[in-house]
Amino acid sequence: MIETPFNYTGSKFKLLEQILPEFDYTKPYFVDLFMGGGSVYTNVVDKYQKILANDIIKDLVGIHQELLNSDDIIEITKSLCPDKTDAESFLKLRDDYNSNPSPEKLWALMLSCTSNMMRFNQKFKFNQTFGKRTWNSSTQNKVETFIKHIRPFRDKIRFTSNTFHDVNISSDKVMVYADPPYSNTEAGYNAYWKKDDDDKLYNFLLDIDRKGSSFMISGVLNHNGETCKLLTNLIEDKFNYKVLNFDYNKVSRVGKKETDEVIIMNY
Ligand SMILES: C[S@@+](CC[C@H](N)C(=O)[O-])C[C@H]1O[C@@H](n2cnc3c(N)ncnc32)[C@H](O)[C@@H]1O
Repeated sequence: MIETPFNYTGSKFKLLEQILPEFDYTKPYFVDLFMGGGSVYTNVVDKYQKILANDIIKDLVGIHQELLNSDDIIEITKSLCPDKTDAESFLKLRDDYNSNPSPEKLWALMLSCTSNMMRFNQKFKFNQTFGKRTWNSSTQNKVETFIKHIRPFRDKIRFTSNTFHDVNISSDKVMVYADPPYSNTEAGYNAYWKKDDDDKLYNFLLDIDRKGSSFMISGVLNHNGETCKLLTNLIEDKFNYKVLNFDYNKVSRVGKKETDEVIIMNY
């Protein structure tokens, strides 16, 4: 498995061994609807004819897109990363990103912020604090492995930055993987998740099913004692599901919580 160089909050990297064997490989096209750090599309890119990778955060998509094509982003991001002890430069970079955003600045912030967990306020301004960390040898190794793996597939990958319901699934030939943020979790990109998005995603998945394409959605059934309505509704609709076991301790603000991670499929 290839680990992408982002240490992304909510990354599915540790679950890939359980998730990937469950995809529908009879379809020629794959859509990673909420690609985040991209660990999923990266590890199925050789299995499908075409890949569409989407995320609502435009500069995050920009990082993936630029890394596919050139080393420039690597050099620029390295030069933007503050020194491990330089809180002032971090704050300057954060202000600079918030007034004049770019993929390189976002990546530098992701690498240097607390726990590598990017966080946005309700106005979509980056507001995570300095993590006393920066580009290091592990980042370098991951970047090199990632680009070596992904660039040969350049011609079959397309990136978009849309809200999920604007992604058009127009045929019965698509395997769609959905790994959305959830209202009952606390990740830093939840600012992008609107109140009615759970309902919209439910209808979006039913529509994929009606069209004859395949979907898998993954998520946490119980978190902090709260159940996820979207997932329980799909299970009540009698779609197939499997329970995985995962500890989302790192996403939570307080304490250690065991969670029930499930995948639900229409095939
Ligand atoms: C759980 S993460 C995906 C993690 C990813 N599977 C990985 O392995 O790194 C959810 C992603 O959904 C994105 N997102 C939030 N709201 C969205 C929306 N309305 N449409 C599309 N993407 C959205 C977030 O930016 C975040 O990257």
